[in-house]
Amino acid sequence: GSRDKEVMFKAHDFLAKLYHHSLINTRQGEKALEYLKQRGFTEEIIKTFQIGFAPDSWDFATGFLQKRNFPLDKAASAGLLSSRDFDGKYFDRFRNRVMFPIWDHKGQVIAFGGRILGEGEPKYLNSPETKIFHKGKFLYGFHMARSHIRKKQQLVLLEGYVDVTAAHGAGIQNAVASLGTALTRDQAELIRRHVESVVICYDSDKAGLNAAMKASEELGKAGCYVKIARMPDKMDPDDYIQKYGAERFKSDVIGSAQTVMAFKMDTLRKGKNLSDEGERIKYIEEVLREISSLEKAVERDHYLRQLADEFSLSLSALKQQQFQFYKQQK
Ligand code: CTP
Ligand code: MN
Ligand code: MN
Ligand code: MN
Ligand code: MN
Repeated sequence: GSRDKEVMFKAHDFLAKLYHHSLINTRQGEKALEYLKQRGFTEEIIKTFQIGFAPDSWDFATGFLQKRNFPLDKAASAGLLSSRDFDGKYFDRFRNRVMFPIWDHKGQVIAFGGRILGEGEPKYLNSPETKIFHKGKFLYGFHMARSHIRKKQQLVLLEGYVDVTAAHGAGIQNAVASLGTALTRDQAELIRRHVESVVICYDSDKAGLNAAMKASEELGKAGCYVKIARMPDKMDPDDYIQKYGAERFKSDVIGSAQTVMAFKMDTLRKGKNLSDEGERIKYIEEVLREISSLEKAVERDHYLRQLADEFSLSLSALKQQQFQFYKQQK
């Protein structure tokens, strides 16, 4: 019932403070603090995002929750503790990890993402789905980004925790993350309720590119106007900001984001030599296929004309070919 949820919220709030304290004020947090500073986290970012550290212990959180008379079974069903198979004894779920609190849209902590220090598996251990945490309904950082999204009339959609914290530090406070999963319809509709214009800047790898395409479709269906930002291969927004700085990220990545179609055309162009006749025709056909999948007639017309201009082709030939691809899709 709602009493259970209340206890779960309280346990999260309590542990978020405790983990944060253990990171910034205790000896056992030193190596985690060192790790974060090496990665470019400032004290301000650590405070703003209430980043913490779960010590390498089986009973750190369990002990504190017990002392404060939190019902441990509730803390376990909130995903904060686990229990031993053979006797049901509770122990800490998060051990020796940097802790990122995850908030609901009111700013209540409802889950955690725990990062291993350095290399190892799993890289992130996240809270499971619980009564208060439904992964597909939240966006990381949303409650902090909300006022900035309104002000800038734009939302920047990223993949990971650290991308959001780095973007925030770089002055892009209208950034949120979908946390590595495919953007859900619920998330797309949540976004559209607040803003129309979205820039997607996912990791520049195959998985990120595919996820960006899917997210742009979902956002399009929800009624958003979507652009996609491009970064050098294998980089994510955090990598980019650490390497090239905030200003370049703002101008060359976010500020240079392209419409989905322009982005796709650039991607198709890559690795092709368009002065070669065969490759040029292949490219034109690939673009026509993309055009034929566009919903709006006005958009189709716009890109057909663009293509006709660029390659000195007749608009009617392009239209004819495009219509054939369109019929094939049906
Ligand atoms: N993720 C996860 N579990 C994993 C890997 C990733 O939940 N084992 C989620 C996390 O929310 C992560 C996001 O997917 O932030 C993006 O994954 P990835 O790009 O691999 O991690 P980064 O965010 O870049 O993390 P870091 O910079 O710390 O390596
Ligand atoms: Mn703010
Ligand atoms: Mn990735
Ligand atoms: Mn990444
Ligand atoms: Mn990263």
